[in-house]
Amino acid sequence: MGVLEGKVAVVTGAGRGLGRSHALALAKEGARVVVNDFGVSADGQGRDESAGRGVVDEIKAFGGEAVAHFGDVADWNESKGMIETAVKAFGDFNILVSNAGFLRDKMFFSMSEADFDAVIRVHLKGHFCGMRHAAEYLRNKAKAEGGQVYGRILSTASEAALFFDPGQPNYSAAKSGIIALTNSAAQALIRVGVTANTFMPRARTAMTATGPSAQFFQKPESGFDAFDPAHTSPLVCWLASPAA
Ligand SMILES: NC(=O)c1ccc[n+]([C@@H]2O[C@H](COP(=O)([O-])OP(=O)(O)OC[C@H]3O[C@@H](n4cnc5c(N)ncnc54)[C@H](O)[C@@H]3O)[C@@H](O)[C@H]2O)c1
Repeated sequence: MGVLEGKVAVVTGAGRGLGRSHALALAKEGARVVVNDFGVSADGQGRDESAGRGVVDEIKAFGGEAVAHFGDVADWNESKGMIETAVKAFGDFNILVSNAGFLRDKMFFSMSEADFDAVIRVHLKGHFCGMRHAAEYLRNKAKAEGGQVYGRILSTASEAALFFDPGQPNYSAAKSGIIALTNSAAQALIRVGVTANTFMPRARTAMTATGPSAQFFQKPESGFDAFDPAHTSPLVCWLASPAA
């Protein structure tokens, strides 16, 4: 029996990369999973539901339970619909892994207003919307049941929040903001038994496949593949578990 048997999880941006890996790992630990993905390119263009559907099929193929949600995490109502999808499909909601996002890198002095707004929106507002709707559901449930509930909020920051890359002013600011936002949620929710944590992954995905550091993430010809996204998901499962 997995450590998340019976729990209900929502993973945003779970159609590929780190989100896909987290969704598969949570399902293997027994969680029933809402696979959210808007299906955009690594710089936030286009729209494609096939990747999200594919991850649902992968989970079902090993006997797990999953449903898809194709909404935009940074849209207030669509993000609310993500939590509602969990409750409708599985009767409850316990775990939110906020992960969706994209990059629009430009040096500080050439960054446009549009690229700043788009990256702040998808990462910082995208984390806020999901967390806010999750918090409301969990707090209402705790009030109705007169006690504590099982809830885990997980947020995805980045080393950009620590090292302040000059080519990522939008992303660095959004990821720093996510740490503050998640710590605020942690203080608001701990009294009802809910934890909120932020982690900083590193992996080979569409986001790191191009650009100056792409070579660094390449799969080695032999030996341990340190940047396989799957290596990040045991931490996610642990933070989502009763042990955390
Ligand atoms: N890959 C790394 O080394 C690394 C390092 C630090 C942080 N991160 C963070 O990890 C997270 C996942 O990144 P990844 O590397 O797997 O990238 P990725 O591009 O492979 O996956 C991102 C996913 O988010 C989805 N998405 C984008 N905008 C969305 C929206 N508005 N609503 C719903 N889904 C949306 C995309 O469709 C895509 O499937 C991001 O928050 C990223 O900033 C990644």
